[in-house]
Amino acid sequence: MDPGAKGRERTGAVDIGGEAKPAALRCAPVPKSFLLTDDLHRYVIAHSTPLDAVSQQLVEETAELGGIAVMQVAPEQSIFLTLVTRLAGARSAVEVGTFTGLSALAIATGMAPDGRLVCCDVSEEWTAVARRYWEAAGVADRIELRLGPAIDTLRALPAAPTVDLVFIDADKTGYVDYWTELVPRVRPGGVLLVDNTLQFGAVVDASNTKEQVEAIRRFNDHAAADDRVELVLLPVSDGLTMAVKR
Ligand SMILES: C[S@@+](CC[C@H](N)C(=O)[O-])C[C@H]1O[C@@H](n2cnc3c(N)ncnc32)[C@H](O)[C@@H]1O
Repeated sequence: MDPGAKGRERTGAVDIGGEAKPAALRCAPVPKSFLLTDDLHRYVIAHSTPLDAVSQQLVEETAELGGIAVMQVAPEQSIFLTLVTRLAGARSAVEVGTFTGLSALAIATGMAPDGRLVCCDVSEEWTAVARRYWEAAGVADRIELRLGPAIDTLRALPAAPTVDLVFIDADKTGYVDYWTELVPRVRPGGVLLVDNTLQFGAVVDASNTKEQVEAIRRFNDHAAADDRVELVLLPVSDGLTMAVKR
């Protein structure tokens, strides 16, 4: 049996190292695709592959953390990450910004059993949650978590262009530097995905000069002018830029 299949069932309770809870199988309670009405968001979720039981339970446990849970990728992004990872045939991937681990779980699920995902984060506390769910899903052996400032982790990666897939979802002021480190390490035809590139619409509101919004405007201009990639800014969730290395 594919070890990735362990715990990926869509029904039943899942043992996540604590009290087993029944898995609810519908969408997360918070619509995160801000361009959609609640009804349309529910419709999108209902017509996409549902979250598996482990991911759904992770969404629920993360929701218990309160408002900070908004940092987690939306359910439709989670399945999108899995599908893109599969399409890219990714065996080597890098994630910048892991939190409680949903996006990493989605990427690892899309990889072959011998795939390797390097995850960068600074929080021991949040990533401890992630580790439990990666174990429950049977993908922990595909994931290497490196705690510390992501820029240091990225600079320490081999320089050769061998990475198949990148997902950037950490501190927005670091995006240009992460891009600068990662684009040369991605193989031709490899994929870079970058989250929150619409800032809930604030990117086009000139009166909004918040540091994070300015940082994303800088990143979007920088990436759009980078002729090493072809890219599209998808209006998914809070804006998801997808680039393919030439
Ligand atoms: C938006 S959350 C990531 C959400 C995650 N992709 C998910 O789906 O649950 C951003 C994460 O970036 C981490 N982070 C912030 N600044 C960082 C830095 N300089 N280096 C590494 N990680 C950082 C935070 O600890 C946080 O867990």
